[in-house]
Amino acid sequence: MCGIVGYIGDRNVYDVLIKGLHRLEYRGYDSAGVALETPEGVLNVYKAKGKVSNLENFCKDKDLQASCGIAHTRWATHGEPSDVNAHPHFSDDRKLAIVHNGTIENYQILKDALIQHGCRFHSETDTEVLVQLIEYIKLKNNCQLIDAVREALNQVQGAYAIAVIEAGNPHQIIAARKSSPLVIGIGNDEFFLASDATPIVEFTKEVVYVKDNEIAILRRGEPMKLVTLSNEEVSIDVTALELSISQLEKGGYPHFMLKEIFEQPVTLRDCIRGRVIEGGKSILLNGVRDHKDKFINAKRIVIVACGTSWHAALIGKYLIQEMCDVPVNVEYASEFRYNHPVLEEGDVVIAISQSGETADTLAAIEIARDKGAFVYGISNVVGSSIPRATHSGTYIHVGPEIGVASTKAFTGQVMVLTLLAIAVGELRGTLTKEQIAEYGKEINAIPDLVKQVLKLDEQIKHLSAIYTYARNFLYLGRGYSYPAALEGALKLKEISYIHAEGYPAAEMKHGPIALIDAEMPSVIVAPYDHLYEKIVSNVQQVKSRGGSIIAIVTEGDTVISNIADHVLEVPKVPEWLTPIITSIPMQLLSYYIAINKGKDVDMPRNLAKSVTVE
Ligand code: AGP
Ligand code: GLU
Repeated sequence: MCGIVGYIGDRNVYDVLIKGLHRLEYRGYDSAGVALETPEGVLNVYKAKGKVSNLENFCKDKDLQASCGIAHTRWATHGEPSDVNAHPHFSDDRKLAIVHNGTIENYQILKDALIQHGCRFHSETDTEVLVQLIEYIKLKNNCQLIDAVREALNQVQGAYAIAVIEAGNPHQIIAARKSSPLVIGIGNDEFFLASDATPIVEFTKEVVYVKDNEIAILRRGEPMKLVTLSNEEVSIDVTALELSISQLEKGGYPHFMLKEIFEQPVTLRDCIRGRVIEGGKSILLNGVRDHKDKFINAKRIVIVACGTSWHAALIGKYLIQEMCDVPVNVEYASEFRYNHPVLEEGDVVIAISQSGETADTLAAIEIARDKGAFVYGISNVVGSSIPRATHSGTYIHVGPEIGVASTKAFTGQVMVLTLLAIAVGELRGTLTKEQIAEYGKEINAIPDLVKQVLKLDEQIKHLSAIYTYARNFLYLGRGYSYPAALEGALKLKEISYIHAEGYPAAEMKHGPIALIDAEMPSVIVAPYDHLYEKIVSNVQQVKSRGGSIIAIVTEGDTVISNIADHVLEVPKVPEWLTPIITSIPMQLLSYYIAINKGKDVDMPRNLAKSVTVE
């Protein structure tokens, strides 16, 4: 995962790098480091375990002058989080420094060979192998850095976005990517590089998304150059950034997560804007319209995703099966890629990913494409890898999500899947014009209803105090509320570190009911829908085993309200829109429990926002 930043130009290099690292800290926060090259060509590397603020403290009395530099915030894959394993890594002769995002799969073989050639290693990372290999090739072939980097990359297997600088060459950065993101910003006789555009946006709007197997040569006074691993020059495609700095700030909220929860009325409005058309009578998704034959003729839809996006995918299955009458399989991308997926002609694959960079989802897309499937992407980050790897798709347009725990992206994904199900239902003739017009109206009403749900804030804050010290939680739901319950449980465990399990409520009696006692609270998602009577029985079952119940119910509910210990009332919406509405109180509950426990909700331990490793 991790975030990398680089800068070469007249600005204060250290300041640009540190600010960039703060923006990328959501990607990993095990350690942080900078390599600064003075105008005289001296390379200084400073690094510290923990967050970027630790690095800043460490650097207070250091020589920070520089003409160029690279920086890193780490999410450890090889070697524990420590000062020594922090990036940048020096080569043995301390002439080269590297930052790396990704994993080098054949690092052990390369390391053994390099040790035989007398190389000394100082860290446990796979990354150090790469910089030692580059140095070895450079010395052996007596060649330029760019040639050594190219040859080294031809020998490594795995994923990388790297940036390398060289002592004695203070006006050059070499960067490259394969399966990990890398964006170059082009300024006025200056270059920026980063894992995403957030560190770049305030300096320039002109960016280049580096593609797999490309190496960027950034030299002061020269235009940027891109070459392939086989040394062919490729043309440079400059894109204008559509991102503003205010979207990257907390806007008065104590945490990004809370800001993002409260933004949902606006983000959902942004997500449906221009898509519910003709006064609600039709749904327009360009990505579907432009490939309508694929959706009309689809015999099956397979959705691949990870984590929260996988929960959105499950809701998508229920929506598409109900509205389009086509079978849908939902797969974890990490399993799909290795379980000999059988795809047939006429299958449509939908890949869902907030970040657009998840390695497993990208690999699943590649496999699906290789097997001839039509692949549709649903993503949030414009210009990220997944939208570029798919045939068509839809952005959820909810703005940058910085909190590691996904909230507004989840509701955006569910909303796009809802729009997609209706659009495809329209194309396949499984929905009538009247139904579509009715659905359009219901969708248009959602942002205001979400605003109403957010008024539960105070009540949930109060409730959270009662459950802060629970050690386990069950989250139960049926139908559309089952994936919503899974997502509720994931939110709680991610940020409060309380064990929480999501379950289809009816499955509970086949095992998990054994866990229920006074120490095991259950969150039961029970809005009024066609399974309501059934879930009432499940609520009774929990109660009769002495478990305490927090129930999320439809306003005016009298039955469950009488049984549950606490109820959170949400407005009435059609069943297929309930997951958007019921997930909001669960987001708030997780947030407040984590806050009560003093946890870092925006950067929970061991996690990272963008999972670009297997
Ligand atoms: C969400 O809260 C999680 N942090 C995580 O499960 C996430 O949804 C998952 O890693 C998939 O990410 P993506 O949507 O960017 O592909
Ligand atoms: N594999 C490298 C390491 O463990 C980089 C991990 C990352 O992408 O943060 O240091």
